[in-house]
Amino acid sequence: MSIVYLNGNYLAEEDASISVLDRGFIFGDGVYEVIPCYGGHLFRLEQHLQRLQNSLDGIRLENPLTDSQWQETIKEVVKRNNDDNADQSIYLQVTRGAAKRDHVFPDKVSQTVFIMSSVMQPVSDAKLKKGVVAITHDDIRWRYCHIKSIALLPNTLMRQVAREAGADEAILNRDGKITEGAASNIFIVKDKKIITPPKNECLLPGITRDLILEIAADSGLAHSEEEISLAQLQDADEIWLTSSTKEILPVTQLDDVAVGNGKPGPCWQDMLARYQEHKKLLRSGDAH
Ligand code: PDD
Repeated sequence: MSIVYLNGNYLAEEDASISVLDRGFIFGDGVYEVIPCYGGHLFRLEQHLQRLQNSLDGIRLENPLTDSQWQETIKEVVKRNNDDNADQSIYLQVTRGAAKRDHVFPDKVSQTVFIMSSVMQPVSDAKLKKGVVAITHDDIRWRYCHIKSIALLPNTLMRQVAREAGADEAILNRDGKITEGAASNIFIVKDKKIITPPKNECLLPGITRDLILEIAADSGLAHSEEEISLAQLQDADEIWLTSSTKEILPVTQLDDVAVGNGKPGPCWQDMLARYQEHKKLLRSGDAH
């Protein structure tokens, strides 16, 4: 049975409920985080809490908990869902709470805080061996994509378009520049150089993205943060998608055309091995 946290209480998932007037439900007025937990160790918690703070600042909503309260509460959710020692994916969201429906913020806000855990489903070996299929799609989202908003309708629409085209992800193109995936960040490799778009308001500053750049720097691998055009994407030797839940996925087909030789590339293999090494350290408590 899954135990969730809702506004100060730990409850069975089916017993947790919120008001129909919650602004998260009515307006999508809230922000969220997804934090992996490997062997009981939270992945980059400090960075996730910092991004949460940035998202809350971005929507002008006060953080209802201190960092140590977040840490304590998330750890309790992990503990209460730790039946079989499986890796977990922690989802948390904060909304502007329940209020009479009005676009303008309520005078008195009582945030809704919700945390749940699911068993982390690792990407199958078969998928990693073959790579995934992606399509390109016009980036139809708003201009504050650095905020991890719960209002994900454009993202879900684009993911669905990808699914119906037999693809795993939609890679987004805003005015000729590639921003990210519908639920992932993007990297390309050209002539052994690892490239990802710089952080700005057009993309989410992914925690996985940052770790990959850190690993590249520590390992002396050629890398840079620079704009990627659609033409560069189409001409890449390798394309990777990154996220907390999918880690690093190699894209081997883009819009019906093979990427590189159509197989996961050597730079991806090397980076994935380094990433797994980092996770091993995290499991033993020697990394964060
Ligand atoms: N999404 N960009 C978007 C639009 C995302 O939704 C995500 C992750 C990322 C990658 O960020 P990170 O490395 O911090 O997970 C980039 C999560 C996993 C989700 O919505 O489920």
